[in-house]
Amino acid sequence: MSSRSPVSIDKVYPNNLGQFRQIHSSSLPVVYSDTFFQKAIETTGSVFSRIAYYNDAAVGCIFGRDVTPAGSSTFAVEILTLCVLPAYRRSGVASELVSSLIAWTRGHLSREAASDDSPFTSARVFLHVQTSNSGARAFYAAQGFTPAPLPEGAAPFPGEAGLVVSGYYKGRVTPDDAAVLERLL
Ligand SMILES: CC(C)(COP(=O)(O)OP(=O)(O)OC[C@H]1O[C@@H](n2cnc3c(N)ncnc32)[C@H](O)[C@@H]1OP(=O)(O)O)[C@@H](O)C(=O)NCCC(=O)NCCS
Repeated sequence: MSSRSPVSIDKVYPNNLGQFRQIHSSSLPVVYSDTFFQKAIETTGSVFSRIAYYNDAAVGCIFGRDVTPAGSSTFAVEILTLCVLPAYRRSGVASELVSSLIAWTRGHLSREAASDDSPFTSARVFLHVQTSNSGARAFYAAQGFTPAPLPEGAAPFPGEAGLVVSGYYKGRVTPDDAAVLERLL
């Protein structure tokens, strides 16, 4: 007998945007603007926003976007937010959300590769995480993310293996420094 996963993933639409916002405010210390949430329902193709349901309850979300610099051969996707309601953590919800974003990124790359004049030869998914957020850092390590390398000649941040953006959160959380993590595809 096969057991079906209780986790399902759906797009964000005007009619579940309220749940998407609610999950953010119940799971993250940073308050996001109306403009930020309006972008989650854009249909331009450069935004990846999804909501996760555990059985029928909306419990998690991910928000990413294409930030590929002009002329780059690497398709770059930034995860802006990833969050799961506390009661539903360690049930594989965020893993499913990240897998869906990785599949979207790979899909983009392979569609591009099918065209003769594709500019892309690789993809990179990256994110900023508060340096002190050990739970999220352990999660991302389990998903194959590693610290983004320091630019040549840059001084390392104390206790960090890779790139850290000092003051990234502009004093909204303490510490307000963010480690940059990445996964190359
Ligand atoms: C980080 C977060 C998204 C993880 O969500 P989740 O649904 O609990 O993650 P999963 O259940 O898919 O975890 C998969 C694996 O990641 C690792 N992991 C996840 N959370 C962890 C934690 N707090 N501590 C250590 N390892 C952790 C484990 O290896 C876990 O597998 P296991 O449960 O079989 O041991 C969730 O804790 C969260 O919403 N935190 C608050 C918001 C946040 O910090 N977001 C990230 C900001 S960039």
